[in-house]
Amino acid sequence: MRVLVTGGAGYIGSHTLIELLGQAHEVCVLDNFHNSRPVVLDRVRSLTNGKVTSVTGDVRDRGALDALMDDFAPQAVIHFAGLKAVGESQRQPVDYYDVNVTGTLTLLRAMDRIGCRRIIFSSSATVYGEPVYLPYDEAHPTAPLSVYGRTKLMAEEVLTDWARATPEATAVLLRYFNPVGAHASARLGEDPADYPNNLMPFIAQVAVGKRDELQVFGDDYPTDDGTGERDYIHVVDLARAHVAAVDWAESNTGARAFNIGTGQPYSVYQMVEAFRRASGHPIPLRVAPRRDGDVARMQADSRRAEAEMGWRATHTLDDMAASTWAWQSGNPDGYGG
Ligand code: NAD
Ligand code: UD1
Repeated sequence: MRVLVTGGAGYIGSHTLIELLGQAHEVCVLDNFHNSRPVVLDRVRSLTNGKVTSVTGDVRDRGALDALMDDFAPQAVIHFAGLKAVGESQRQPVDYYDVNVTGTLTLLRAMDRIGCRRIIFSSSATVYGEPVYLPYDEAHPTAPLSVYGRTKLMAEEVLTDWARATPEATAVLLRYFNPVGAHASARLGEDPADYPNNLMPFIAQVAVGKRDELQVFGDDYPTDDGTGERDYIHVVDLARAHVAAVDWAESNTGARAFNIGTGQPYSVYQMVEAFRRASGHPIPLRVAPRRDGDVARMQADSRRAEAEMGWRATHTLDDMAASTWAWQSGNPDGYGG
């Protein structure tokens, strides 16, 4: 299929390009490089010998989208382009609604104009909010705790109404848990712009000597070792879920949400220990107060994705830690090195 990938130069997008090209899909990327660099696409090209066309542009730019739709005529769109920092979303809500919600609306209008009826959307487990029960299944109530989470839920609702009203339309809403890890080549990985917000990139920067110590945000949670537990998923497994979703969209219509996780949560201390094993480096840490908005535990029930799309995660915790370490140690300055 011809697949337009918005935000394809980003962390998850770049890994997804590799998997799409591996399954002989044609890809075209739209990215404004707000949180990525053009060199990422060069690396994808060199890893695949694949043809990756790209357009530098904003997903809210209707003119750029219309031109791209006319040139490339996508049969499906994977929509990654968006802003994703929870803390920043609380400080800059209008930017988040604009990029994440207006961006989705603009994209849908451009798709409608050419009759493109399939979209795979990057949603997040953060739409669930405080767990009412665990593991979360897709029927769990949604009550996001941040502006970021609300923009994701709004975009899901827009896509659901669009699919309901548009004959033959398919909207696949992928609710990612915590993506970590890097490509096996160590040429692609997560490259946070400045101070990493998330646990794994932070641990990696401590191991490589860029940061002195990890702050553990709370050791008094009602979990086995007192630290927060999350359902970490290897980014290559996540990328493969998008290929499965493109296939699913070919033979199904309507809007459907799928959890994309492993079902096996790990604590902060377990992640630190896995990383210490993979890197052979000590990870100095200090217990700090809980972070606002954090929940004790997140765990995915991903049985729907397995039953309906035939997808399941195959990478282990050690794969996640080893690939992160290979990427971080081989590219200590990320793509800027
Ligand atoms: P990322 O920031 O690495 O990738 C996003 C890409 O979109 C970047 O290349 C960025 O330059 C581009 N972009 C941003 N605004 C744009 C705009 N207005 N027009 C065009 N391009 C734009 O993030 P990621 O981790 O790869 O996440 C991809 C998607 O998955 C996001 O929508 C994010 O909300 C969602 N998601 C991510 C996580 C996670 O932990 N990484 C978890 C759940 C959901
Ligand atoms: C965060 C976001 C969430 C987003 C997810 C994936 C918040 C409140 N939530 O979730 O919306 O979907 O990232 O991008 O920001 N931790 C430390 N020290 C650190 C960093 C993290 O102890 O320096 C702990 C956290 O308290 C948590 C765990 O590590 O228990 C994972 O944190 P993180 O990687 O930020 O992911 P989430 O909290 O799940």
